[in-house]
Amino acid sequence: MQVAVFSARPYDVASLTAANAAAGHALVFHETRLAAETPALAAEAGAVCAFVNDDLSAAVVARLAALGVRLLALRSAGFNHVDVAAAAAAGLAVGRVPAYSPHAVAEHAVALILTLNRKTHRAYNRVREGNFELHGLLGFDLHGKTVGIVGTGLIGRVLARILAGFGCRLVAHDPFPHPEMVALGVAYVGMDRILAESDIVTLQCPLTPETRHLIDDAAIARMKRGVMLVNTSRGAVVDTRAVIRGLKSGTIGSLGLDVYEEEEALFFEDFSDRFIEDDTFARLLTFPNVLVTGHQAFFTVEALAGIAETTVANLTAFERDGRPLHPVAAQ
Ligand code: NAI
Repeated sequence: MQVAVFSARPYDVASLTAANAAAGHALVFHETRLAAETPALAAEAGAVCAFVNDDLSAAVVARLAALGVRLLALRSAGFNHVDVAAAAAAGLAVGRVPAYSPHAVAEHAVALILTLNRKTHRAYNRVREGNFELHGLLGFDLHGKTVGIVGTGLIGRVLARILAGFGCRLVAHDPFPHPEMVALGVAYVGMDRILAESDIVTLQCPLTPETRHLIDDAAIARMKRGVMLVNTSRGAVVDTRAVIRGLKSGTIGSLGLDVYEEEEALFFEDFSDRFIEDDTFARLLTFPNVLVTGHQAFFTVEALAGIAETTVANLTAFERDGRPLHPVAAQ
């Protein structure tokens, strides 16, 4: 089957080519994103392989269906960027990668927590300038601090195990409490207690209508003064403008983001010779206590290999059975 692979960067080409060696699908790589202007690149393809910031809205899905595409093979766990109902209506199957390396994302969340706390991002620059002053670099012991984990799925559970090792007190919120967490000593509580008790709030839930802007002005008003907020889930779980107000008031003491509401216009691209038009994002970058990474939490050798292998398995299963191995069903 011919597969049009969008948003294909050199690391995607390498990992997918390796995973596809035995399966033998005809992978056609396009560095460009899937967007309103680019579906025609999939004219010969039976399947489209897309990443998190590709446009899979109803209009694009309809164009792909009209071109003869029958499968959307997502290289991601999240599928909030896909109009799944439109795909089903157009007769397109959707496959995803439900799990690759939850360790990759959980460990990145820990990297954000440790960096924000001990300010190694600032220390790195300071020392290179020959400045060995400690002023401004004061952190706190993670040991004994309360961490609120919102979402204890695959990633949230790995994160909980790591943070338990630091000696943190863990509280969690999830509509489906997990027995492994209870056994670890994690207390499941409502969002009110997560917000009121946590020194660090970390978001590991999917983006859904319920979680969109879960962290808004009202939520921030209920947080401890100086709280650290970390988001590696999806940008729109956080209301960015509210968070900026929280940073300015001092309620939010530090902020670590791997994802951003409007990241489609920015992430995975090089803007170093241009300027950033998004004033909200640019404002975020002015805070010394804000650390942004460009959706790289998943980006480990192990995760890339896992994504590629499951993507190829989805393609092969679809070709054989008319159904991807890990389908996304319309609700
Ligand atoms: P998962 O599906 O294993 O777990 C998600 C958990 O969130 C489930 O236990 C679910 O019950 C819970 N949840 C749903 N609604 C909730 C709510 N309103 N409040 C609290 N919890 C809620 O997913 P996994 O693999 O742990 O990934 C979580 C999210 O992380 C993904 O949906 C994706 O958006 C994001 N992600 C980000 C990556 C990155 O590179 N930054 C990479 C991979 C995933």
